[in-house]
Amino acid sequence: MSAKNIGAEVIGAGVDGAKVDGAKVDGARILLLVTGGIAAYKACYLTRLLVQAGFAVKVAMTEAAQHFVAPLTFQVLSGHPVASDLWGEGQGEAMDHIEYARWADLVVAAPATANLIAKAAGGIADDIVTTLLLAFPGPVLFAPAMNDNMWRHAATQANLATLRERGVTIVEPSDGFLACGTEAVGRLAEPEAILAAVGEQLAALEIRPGASANSESSDAPSGADPAAFWSGRRVVITAGPTHEAIDPVRYLANRSTGVFGYALAEAAVRCGAAVTLISGPTCLVPPAGIDELILVETADEMAEAVERSLRNGADWLIMAAAVADFAPVKPAADKIKKDAVGPQWQLELARTVDILGEVVPAHRSAQTKVVGFALETEDLLARAQAKMQSKGLDYVVANDPTRAGSGFGARNHQIKLIGPEGLIWASESIAKTELAIRLLGQLAADAGLQEQ
Ligand code: CTP
Repeated sequence: MSAKNIGAEVIGAGVDGAKVDGAKVDGARILLLVTGGIAAYKACYLTRLLVQAGFAVKVAMTEAAQHFVAPLTFQVLSGHPVASDLWGEGQGEAMDHIEYARWADLVVAAPATANLIAKAAGGIADDIVTTLLLAFPGPVLFAPAMNDNMWRHAATQANLATLRERGVTIVEPSDGFLACGTEAVGRLAEPEAILAAVGEQLAALEIRPGASANSESSDAPSGADPAAFWSGRRVVITAGPTHEAIDPVRYLANRSTGVFGYALAEAAVRCGAAVTLISGPTCLVPPAGIDELILVETADEMAEAVERSLRNGADWLIMAAAVADFAPVKPAADKIKKDAVGPQWQLELARTVDILGEVVPAHRSAQTKVVGFALETEDLLARAQAKMQSKGLDYVVANDPTRAGSGFGARNHQIKLIGPEGLIWASESIAKTELAIRLLGQLAADAGLQEQ
């Protein structure tokens, strides 16, 4: 999304009970997909809320949805023709069904039936709604509504898991009175809750260059354009923990989930960088568009991958991985039986290779900028600076994992960026995806100045 189509900050926007605090929504474009369920009537109210909150809204409906609400209702509420048929029948002229997908910044499916969820998970495009969905490359939000047995069905849950893995946001249905006469889960979330979720998505979108189907340019909050800086640069990013084997079933690890490293890789891709992601074991889906994914397990394997990537030429190395500092000296070939160990076990550990301290200085070129991470619970700044000096880093990203709103497994994160001259930037506690692009913006601003 460009700065052009995001205008004044809208807080509340005069919508009773609706929450879009902090989201800059003026002019942002929402494609609302309405599928066939009784909850389709709530999509009318949602359309009104979205329009009142300052969004431009266009609607596409399945044939089944039109049994519940007439397209004309949405046309009047949104002020735009409704895409109701793949073949343009009844619309005067054949409609370019991809046009709505090109136009939108965010797609919201509400209500999303079990059928739509299944088709979306399977990539099926056999009507106007599913065709638009498949043609839309940007962020998608689903608000499901269905009978409680359908909601709980393993197929529906598996399809939802697939969508979540692909980054689709699911606004969970609530408990309540269902049209089939029962009181159970499966009821469409209230339109105000869906509006709030839309606001949250757009708050993240605002700082994600290229995230929308309509991306023209990006705004880094730092004042730098990260895409202009990062485009074409070769960036190596490490992410996740490493696992150091004790025996074939046990290992030493740490609490890293890899989420921030993956978010950095995704942000760098969106900024046009050629990204090599070296990842320890995580449950994450690699971002689309990276040049190379190297999956490793141990600190040794990560060191080897970093060395190879540096030798291939890297403009930047961002060491976000939480590499294990110690590994068992003699991992057992067979599972260690506890009875053979006795009541206490003293495991002999040895330091792992210090990738930043030993491997990187030996293989980086003079042009390679190196960013290390420092995790400290005390004397954050002083220790991070000491690390920068001892390892010859260009930047250190420091954080205290014990602070609220930060750290392993948390949705949000809070960091300090330190450069040779001292503190460059102290972030607030914000979503890791948002933080990643801001960090790239800050690095772009600082390194860009040095290059001038
Ligand atoms: N790192 C590394 N090789 C290791 C361990 C860590 O390259 N064997 C990298 C991490 O990816 C991170 C930075 O070094 O970018 C962290 O530095 P480190 O000195 O390991 O910090 P801590 O693990 O916090 O060290 P300490 O426990 O001494 O505070």
